[in-house]
Amino acid sequence: MQTYGRLPIALSHGRGCRVWDTEGREYLDALGGIAVNTLGHAHPKLVPALQEQISKLIHSSNYYLVPLQEQLAAKLCELSGLSSVFFCSTGLEANEAALKIARKFGHDKGIDRPEIVVYEKAFHGRSIATLSATGNPKVQAGFGPLVEGFVRVPLNDVAALDKVARERANVVAVFLEVIQGEGGINPAKVEYLQAVRRICDERGWLLMLDEVQCGIGRTGKWFAHQWAGIRPDVMPLAKGLGSGVPVGAVVCGPRAASVLGPGNHGTTFGGNPLAMRAGIETLHIIQADGLLANAAAVGAHLRAGLERELAGVKGVVEFRGQGLMIGIELDRSCGDLLKQACEAGLLISVTAERVVRLLPPLIMTSGEADQVVAILAPLIRKFLST
Ligand SMILES: Cc1ncc(COP(=O)(O)O)c(C=O)c1O
Repeated sequence: MQTYGRLPIALSHGRGCRVWDTEGREYLDALGGIAVNTLGHAHPKLVPALQEQISKLIHSSNYYLVPLQEQLAAKLCELSGLSSVFFCSTGLEANEAALKIARKFGHDKGIDRPEIVVYEKAFHGRSIATLSATGNPKVQAGFGPLVEGFVRVPLNDVAALDKVARERANVVAVFLEVIQGEGGINPAKVEYLQAVRRICDERGWLLMLDEVQCGIGRTGKWFAHQWAGIRPDVMPLAKGLGSGVPVGAVVCGPRAASVLGPGNHGTTFGGNPLAMRAGIETLHIIQADGLLANAAAVGAHLRAGLERELAGVKGVVEFRGQGLMIGIELDRSCGDLLKQACEAGLLISVTAERVVRLLPPLIMTSGEADQVVAILAPLIRKFLST
């Protein structure tokens, strides 16, 4: 099916932040498979661990105990301060589980038609429920009727959320990305996140933070909300958790941990031994190799380089993001830059039409960040001058 507009290259192998296509051309990877390749490519510690796991057991079944699930869950709980985990395979599945938790949380309180607060420009996935929660008409077009039970507000607007709190008695949860990814790298402000946490506590709502794109060390902390010193009740994860092996997770705190019971939810692949091993090794390597500090430092270096090289360039609107999640908003549609960068040996993304997005592996070095700047800044300057 032609569901993607693809560039005409095929990647064959990689090492670190470099990848090569089937014609032997080399690329610097500032996309990381859209925030998936946390450890870059062919990581020397990850590869043997996965090889060993494949040789032992790839999949068993959730009919049985899976000790590696318990190990990864314990680590995610330790890092987040939360208390229990459901495993799945993708971001939208993690978000579906979160939405089910919110609805059942409401039903358990006697609310028959629970509502969930969602956001303008949000992206939560492409299943019917998650595209209904998504705040992008293009993603929704052609797929109506949408799932009901969502109330939409603008990001970083406490008054709008307060109004919802006053006027809608059936709200049970607030669901947002700490940094909107597909929507154009739009960060929720620290004060906003703190206000949302306070409102959720006052109202007895669940705070559900979609960290599918911004989590797993990308911003320089394990989870992006930790910059605000708050804790969510429900946190969907995926993308970077398995370094390329599909792993999704919903991590819950005490308020949400026991909402779902036996028979309420499940998935065949979720939590299989290979996926769990990928998650365990990814978190271990991030910790052992100091990749949180690296993401913060190299991210700041990369952004400073781009800001310096693009200072005063007409058509550059704003730099946004944190750590190795960087957006450069331009004043016009810039999808063409994707192809131009690729031809120049650099993998990037363009999202929300006008935002150049960088999501490199967390292992990127300052030297590689300098090379990203050296390729990308002249391309943007040239693009804006035509
Ligand atoms: C914040 C966020 N949530 C959910 C998803 C959906 O994840 P997946 O594509 O793994 O279903 C994405 C994907 O881009 C995302 O960025």
